[in-house]
Amino acid sequence: MFSALVCRVGVLGLSASVYAGAVLAQSARPSNAQLASPQIERKVDDLLKRMMLDEKLGQLVQYNDAGYIAATAAQLAINPEARNKVDAMQLAAEGKLGSMLNTVGAEHTNAFQHAAVEKSRLHIPLLFGADIIHGFRTIYPEPLGLAATFDPELVRELSRMSAEEATTAGIRWFYSPMVDISRDARWGRTAEGAGEDPYLGAAMARAYVRGYQQDDLSKPDSVAACVKHFAAYGAAEAGREYNTTDMSDIRLRQVYLPPYKAAVEAGAATIMSAFNALNGVPATANPYLLQKILRDEWGFNGFVVSDYTAVMELQNHGIALTPAEAAKKAFLAGVDVDMMSHYYDTLLPELIRSGQVPMNAVDEAVRRVLRVKFALGLFEHPYARGTEVTAAVPEHRALVRRAAEESFVLLKNDANILPLVQKAQKIALVGPLADNPADMLGAWSGGPQMKDVVTIRAALEARAKQYGGQVLYAKGTDIQGTSESGFAQAVQAAKQADVVVMALGESGTMSGEAGSRAHLDLPGNQEQLLETIAQTGRPVVLLVFSGRPLVLTWAALHIPAIMEVWFPGTEAGNAIANVLYGDVSPSGKLPMSFPWTVGQEPLYYNQFPTGRPPAPEMDLTRPPGPDSRFVSRYIDAPNAALFPFGFGLTYTSFSYGKVSLSRNAVPLNEANHEDAKKLVIATATVTNTGTREATEVVQCYVRNLGASIEQPVRSLKGFARVTLKPGESKRVSFDLGFPELSFYNSEGKQVIEPTHYTVWIGGSSLAKEEASFDVKQ
Ligand code: BGC
Repeated sequence: MFSALVCRVGVLGLSASVYAGAVLAQSARPSNAQLASPQIERKVDDLLKRMMLDEKLGQLVQYNDAGYIAATAAQLAINPEARNKVDAMQLAAEGKLGSMLNTVGAEHTNAFQHAAVEKSRLHIPLLFGADIIHGFRTIYPEPLGLAATFDPELVRELSRMSAEEATTAGIRWFYSPMVDISRDARWGRTAEGAGEDPYLGAAMARAYVRGYQQDDLSKPDSVAACVKHFAAYGAAEAGREYNTTDMSDIRLRQVYLPPYKAAVEAGAATIMSAFNALNGVPATANPYLLQKILRDEWGFNGFVVSDYTAVMELQNHGIALTPAEAAKKAFLAGVDVDMMSHYYDTLLPELIRSGQVPMNAVDEAVRRVLRVKFALGLFEHPYARGTEVTAAVPEHRALVRRAAEESFVLLKNDANILPLVQKAQKIALVGPLADNPADMLGAWSGGPQMKDVVTIRAALEARAKQYGGQVLYAKGTDIQGTSESGFAQAVQAAKQADVVVMALGESGTMSGEAGSRAHLDLPGNQEQLLETIAQTGRPVVLLVFSGRPLVLTWAALHIPAIMEVWFPGTEAGNAIANVLYGDVSPSGKLPMSFPWTVGQEPLYYNQFPTGRPPAPEMDLTRPPGPDSRFVSRYIDAPNAALFPFGFGLTYTSFSYGKVSLSRNAVPLNEANHEDAKKLVIATATVTNTGTREATEVVQCYVRNLGASIEQPVRSLKGFARVTLKPGESKRVSFDLGFPELSFYNSEGKQVIEPTHYTVWIGGSSLAKEEASFDVKQ
């Protein structure tokens, strides 16, 4: 039904009939069974009948408690009137406010809730949403670090923990998970997602939703997930924040959409539309995304909220000449709730009166919001639950410490410098992140959480006391420093030490929203500090803090041990000490490729083939000869990553046996079904060949050759964390079914064709052991 209407009016030609079509037809199974409940529907019907227009529109707007709308110059340029426009408390009391954002604290949320529930005519509770991205008071690594754990069950547990904490402050809605695939390390929001791979991204997306919503939204400690940013925000051109995206439908469906789809299938109650335009249509006014894909194909039955002032920003996108046109386009495209633009409540009345926006569309949007509120049980328990959590919870520290430990990726460990010996040792601890609680937390935490952080300095000093050693601390420089005045003291400390631990990298706010970078080196003069300390000849262990892959080329060539630690959270220091001293062996693997140079970006392992593939790796010491010139490569840098996707070392070594397959041929008619599972089972034996117990992330990659559409050179299709004692072996199997073996064809259909498949099993995206099979007509 909807597709027919889209064909008639065109994707850009928004009209009321497009919206109405979508309202009528919901072809796919509803994504969230709780939102499809007849009891809830009766309650919604009853309430809706009693609501006046301004009360209905109230449900469709969201404000913070600061009393202003626009904060940036760009926002004020569109709407100079936008400052100091609303009094959220008054609106709540008048029943003209549906939800609030980033209003935190039990006393605070309860005060607004009292106004809504006790003073407003219909007593409809507010829904409080917040950016709880990687913990509320007990903080764990940012999502990119969590992705490095390849441990969705851990992510589910952490999400559960943060929901339990935040609901005590009245928050029942998280603007999380961010599931945007990011292949370009320049984009600061790489920190907030699961990296470059759709399979890993989808697994993480499901885990967050399950943790937040726990299959029962009505439990007072459940929160509604808000999957963001729909869609393809991570493909912002040149990695520049808020920039446009443009891609084929095949790439959209194959690479960018799978994590959103996985989150919707897991029952996510809400979705946030993205800031970016996709193929010329801003995501916040895009019926192809918000209607055709989200509602008609996926059966999404929650509500859609815009991103912050994104409705207003349609004017800057140049597709709306007036605020009214912006409001109309966003609303008719399927954005139910206007976050902070102050457009729906002020402009929809006239659009409705003049017939440009149909009343049934307004009712449908209100319905969607109310369904979520009923499903959350907000009418029964509108206030913050229990005793408010205001500081890191002691019982939660073990979990966030484990998360941090699992997230660390050991990139280099020459001569087994790590783990550190425990006997009396002098350690020089150098760098701007060594004694820095604020920057252990990353982009979305800070303030109240800082006082609970264990710094590296504190943790290593505690160990030194225990082992009879000594820590010589020197900051050396600032994160973005230019002065070398601290270098001498750092050199002094290094010279006296047995080993130097350097804590270098970005500050938490150099990534995250509006954290795009054109350079990916260690910021400021940290690289010079590193080189200066390396000249002392003392062995150096480099800890890298970042919300994205950095260019670590010099360090990779000159520093014996390097570990990426992202932003570890509350237990940063203890987790780092545990891994440095070998109480825990590292097990993280990279969720994004680390480049040799920023010029390689966007860089990702699951590239498409070219007609002129280069020889495996070019020799950088010679200029390209005539035999190697006209191939797809740079003349001054390798194609490959410095550290590839899926890569990570530990304190032991693993070997892989041959890959065996359950069969070598699969009949096409058996394969080509959405629910075909275990078409082929791929198995390999992994053995711990070293001397320490450790956990390996065993990875399964697939390549499909001979299909009607080019397929990536390899794609992750399975992973498993396997813990092995020295000498121990385990057989690890991966089921390959329709979801793993299919691809999107030129008609946008997910299919399997009669083609050839190669399967690899190993410890990174460079896995060598392979086997192959065919799908036969
Ligand atoms: C960000 C969102 C966030 C929202 C509310 C926006 O600027 O893009 O990710 O959820 O603000 O704070």
